[in-house]
Formats: sequence, C-alpha cells, structure tokens
Amino acid sequence: MDWGMENRLARLIQSDGHCMFLPIDHGYFQGPTSRLEKPGDTIRPLVSMADGLFVTRGVLRACVDSRKSPPVILRVSGGTSIIGKDLSHESLITSIREAIRLNVAAVGISIFVGSEYEYDSLLNLGKLVDECEDYGIPVMAVTAVGKELEKRDARYLALSCRIAAEFGAKVVKTYWCENFDKVTNGCPVPVVIAGGPKCETEREVFEFVHDGMQKGAIGVNLGRNIWQHEYPVAMMKALRAIIHKKATVQDAQEIFGKEKAKKN
Ligand code: 5RP
Repeated sequence: MDWGMENRLARLIQSDGHCMFLPIDHGYFQGPTSRLEKPGDTIRPLVSMADGLFVTRGVLRACVDSRKSPPVILRVSGGTSIIGKDLSHESLITSIREAIRLNVAAVGISIFVGSEYEYDSLLNLGKLVDECEDYGIPVMAVTAVGKELEKRDARYLALSCRIAAEFGAKVVKTYWCENFDKVTNGCPVPVVIAGGPKCETEREVFEFVHDGMQKGAIGVNLGRNIWQHEYPVAMMKALRAIIHKKATVQDAQEIFGKEKAKKN
C-alpha cells in the first residue's frame, strides 16, 4: 500500500487496530433530523473522543472547527431525500479535488445491493475507487438499505460487504446482525458497525457493539444511538471502552452510569 494511503488509514484506525467514527451525515437525505438540527452544537462535547467524523462538505465547512477536527471521512454520494421516490438513486456529489482541498482522511459512499439502482451505486463505487487510488485516498463503502430495514440479516449484509470489498473499498460500514461473523468472515477488508435508528436502551447498544467486536468488526460508525441519546457523552465514553479497552457490556454499563451521574 502506498505511503499516503497507509498514512490516511492510520489516522482513522488507531494503533490497537480499532476505531470509533462519529457520523453526522444524516442530513444529506433526512434534513434537520432530531438532535442534529444544529450539527455544530451536537458534536461539540463529543468530537474530541471521535477517531473520525463522517460528514458532508457542507456541514464540515459550516459547523466543524478546522483547527479542532478529528480526521474526516467525507460523504461524497447523495442525490435523494426521504420524501423522494427512491433512496437508492444516488450519484457522486463531491469531487476528489474537493476531498483533497478539505484534507480528508477518507471518503464514504453508499451502495444499495438488491435495489433498483444497485448497478448505478456499484458503478459509482468503482469509479470513486479508481479516482481515489490515484491520490492515496481510502474509500469507505456504506452498505445502505434505504427504508428496507428488514434487509439487515447476515446473508444480505455478507453479500453487500463482500461486493464492496471486491470493488476496492478499504473499509466497509454495515449494520450489526445475528451471526455477524458470517459478515466479517466473508469480507477481506475491515468492517465497522453502523447503529441504525435509536434503540430503546443503552444496554442494547452496548450488547450489539460488543458482539460485533467479538465477531470481527474493528469498530463503529455510530450516530443516532449516541447523539440522539439523552446522555451522549456517557454513551461515547462507554462505547469507547468497548472498542479501545476491551470493556464488557457490564463494564460499559457501569461507565455509562458513572458519567450519567456526573451530569446530575
Ligand atoms: C447515514 C449514514 C450514517 O453514517 C450511518 O447510518 C450511521 O449512523 P447511524 O448509527 O445513525 O445509523 O450513512 O446515511
């Protein structure tokens, strides 16, 4: 691997081989979604604990301090909205030139395997990887399911992750599911776990992140289950302990409890 590519990946994936990415890109199709109405305010208490920030260029420029930003994974696909016809109909919306100008550590793009626009989204990925390889920029592929949340099973996610890796993604982001080792075992590049809609309890989040890490994930790209939680800092600290300090679910629950108590 070329020095530049290696250096960018090392900025994101820490020396223990693990990572905790904080996504705040949801507005690119959801608009000012709950607790992300003012992205700058949402991330202010969290940003120093993130190993990477997944964000669009618009929010990066408007809401993130260039002097205090963690390494950036720039979302470069889009073109649809939650009120539009089909969330899978995306194109590349940001150039490599812009990614370089913003000094990003990686770029991120969604693929929609099995959707009407499967072919287009996979060609977008191939084109992006080709361009990024020229400049040593890693591509993170997001195995998106649009509104079809029921697609989140091991068979489907293993298929999507493997295809993303075959197309040259350096990291693949996918949902946690039962038998998550089927997903990681079939994917020759590192896998990070996305959270999906907010869970009922923090314990559920600790459980699926812990299980995913035991079954081969290198970390998370977790948004709503952190910043839509009433205690986002406590969530962040507890999850960091699972990812970087081998904490158990019970350890994480205790860290969460202590941090929550500090706030009261
Ligand atoms: C949205 C994304 C998000 O980065 C991804 O879904 C992770 O966030 P969350 O944990 O809230 O699901 O790609 O398009």
